[in-house]
Amino acid sequence: MEVIRTKSELKSILQRRRKEQSRIGFVPTMGYLHSGHTSLINEAAAVSDVTVVSIFVNPLQFGEGEDFTTYPRDEDHDQREARKAGADILFLPSPEEMYPSPMRFNLHVQEGADVLCGASRPGHFDGVATVVMKLFQLVTPDAAFFGQKDAQQAALITNMVEDFDIDTRIHVIPTIREEDGLAESSRNVRLLPEEREEAPQIYRILNEGASLAEKDGPWTAESWMQDAFQALSGELDYAEIRSYPSLKREQDRTMIAAAALKYKHVRLIDNVIWNTDQRRETE
Ligand code: PAJ
Repeated sequence: MEVIRTKSELKSILQRRRKEQSRIGFVPTMGYLHSGHTSLINEAAAVSDVTVVSIFVNPLQFGEGEDFTTYPRDEDHDQREARKAGADILFLPSPEEMYPSPMRFNLHVQEGADVLCGASRPGHFDGVATVVMKLFQLVTPDAAFFGQKDAQQAALITNMVEDFDIDTRIHVIPTIREEDGLAESSRNVRLLPEEREEAPQIYRILNEGASLAEKDGPWTAESWMQDAFQALSGELDYAEIRSYPSLKREQDRTMIAAAALKYKHVRLIDNVIWNTDQRRETE
């Protein structure tokens, strides 16, 4: 695995590989790699000739008072995990390398960024779209891999690729969980012990919400979920049922139950997606 820190080096290596007709797979991350990330890398490596992983904690997608400065970082661990998972190139740019001067242009997400996580994190998805667009320009991947854990992000990036005619196929990979059901996240290390004990309830409530939605309809299920989340110690940001990937408050073939909960040092998100005409995917 090659570790690359500059855009020019990355571009020249990939230009060479593209001339050899190599298929490029790309996994963008913010590092502190866990089994959720490595499942994306495994998946990319299985279908690509060259697997590129980026690690960049993107300041543009953090709002004021969010955890940009305390976001967990461990480069040695990440290098080991990326290599083991099958990465060929690890791109580790500095903030100055990615943003040599303040951006004069910015992408603005017009649809789907004002609900769920976007409602309480204004500008977050503009920051995500901007950095992913830059990374796509640098890597020009044939395929890019995103986690269902961040379902809204995956839906918006899929729309971006469609709107801008980018020749990259977006793959969305199922959420990897710890044994007790808590979705793997780089931020889980920042949970207090009693919060860590409670956190698996998030997935349990979402699953029950999804079952109830099939039985009694989404809006009854949504209000049941909200009550169930209110009973937890974490502060409820949102718990909603929407269509997926359009994220509208309407019934569709595919639906999502999604929630965000704020603990002392960390905000956790999770979701369950199911087809209304089939048995639920997550079971
Ligand atoms: P990060 O939170 O590091 O996540 C990188 C990728 O890993 C995302 O596609 C995310 O959905 C996926 N992922 C995280 N936890 C997962 C889990 N438990 N199971 C499966 N996949 C999981 O998402 C970002 O970084 C950034 O916003 C980024 C896209 C890199 C842009 O800065």
